[in-house]
Amino acid sequence: MVEAANDLDSIEAVRVSALGKKGKITALMKTLGGMDPEERKTTGAALNLLKDEIAALIASQEYALKKQALEQRLATETIDVSLSARPEKQGKIHPISQTMEELTTIFGSMGFIVSEGPDIEDDWHNFTALNFPPGHPAREMHDTFYLPDDPDETGEAAKKLLRTHTSTVQIRAMVEQGVPIKTIVMGRTYRSDYDITHTPMFHQCEGLVIDKDIHMGHLKGCLQDFAKAYFEVDDLPVQFRPSFFPFTEPSAEVDIGCSRKDGGLKIGAGEDWLEILGCGMVHPNVIKNCGYDPEEYQGFAFGMGVERITMLKYGIPDLRTFFESDIRWLQHYGFDPLDRPNRATGTK
Ligand code: DAH
Repeated sequence: MVEAANDLDSIEAVRVSALGKKGKITALMKTLGGMDPEERKTTGAALNLLKDEIAALIASQEYALKKQALEQRLATETIDVSLSARPEKQGKIHPISQTMEELTTIFGSMGFIVSEGPDIEDDWHNFTALNFPPGHPAREMHDTFYLPDDPDETGEAAKKLLRTHTSTVQIRAMVEQGVPIKTIVMGRTYRSDYDITHTPMFHQCEGLVIDKDIHMGHLKGCLQDFAKAYFEVDDLPVQFRPSFFPFTEPSAEVDIGCSRKDGGLKIGAGEDWLEILGCGMVHPNVIKNCGYDPEEYQGFAFGMGVERITMLKYGIPDLRTFFESDIRWLQHYGFDPLDRPNRATGTK
């Protein structure tokens, strides 16, 4: 009877007629109550055995039928891969994801690897190891989100916070991966701030190069090449302006040339400058804090806001819109899945 059932509905009918509430086996089970103990024991055991056998037969027939159905579907169903996509049905890549892909491609081609670190950090990685002494005013500029104290880990260095910059991973990369190292870090960063150019969560891209005999010429060449590749302007003017960061000495900010006419902004040779990132030669104290001799190893580092450089390249005016999940915004500023990094501007 079970073998004769050749579709899932008939199998279910067999199951109901044998094992269901009003099924034959169920009815026989009910007669057990009227038997004397000895008879009940032997008949009960035999009935249970029968019940298990029927259930196993049903399960295996069911499995065979499902397998057969699947094989039939696989044999007949084909996907026409030459069919063109329907753009109105297609999802978009968020501009932040697109920019991070572009950054990975550009720095990857220069030989940088990608490193990661946690969003929840401690005071030591976020500040102290990066040469922000306790009480240093630069700490206050970061509008840090602190987490409640952990009773198991006390002391200033263990204080937990949401990382305010990706520079934390400079320390982790040097300590955990060793030197020489040439890496970028991309990820979320957090500061308690909110207006047209600030959101409490934003993304940064950090770079770190440590080796013997690294000098400022390497820093300049690397960042000039990066700016030209990212903004896709071959003769892009790039200027290095002295600045201050506790973890670099000397420090600089990098500006690119632009022109502003009729309320529009054009990147390239022009009368104006736009700041795109911070950088510098890694401070000897930072190298020392990671356990290396700054006389032997030197290097450079840089850090930039991913949203900022995305807004500049693609003309997105308000930072807050990145995180509003407005589907119309994403349709307008998003990228098609097959857009290759750094060819993106041609498709807009
Ligand atoms: N961490 C800095 C910030 O959030 C950016 C930065 C500046 C990173 C200079 C660096 C650097 O690695 O060398 O403002």
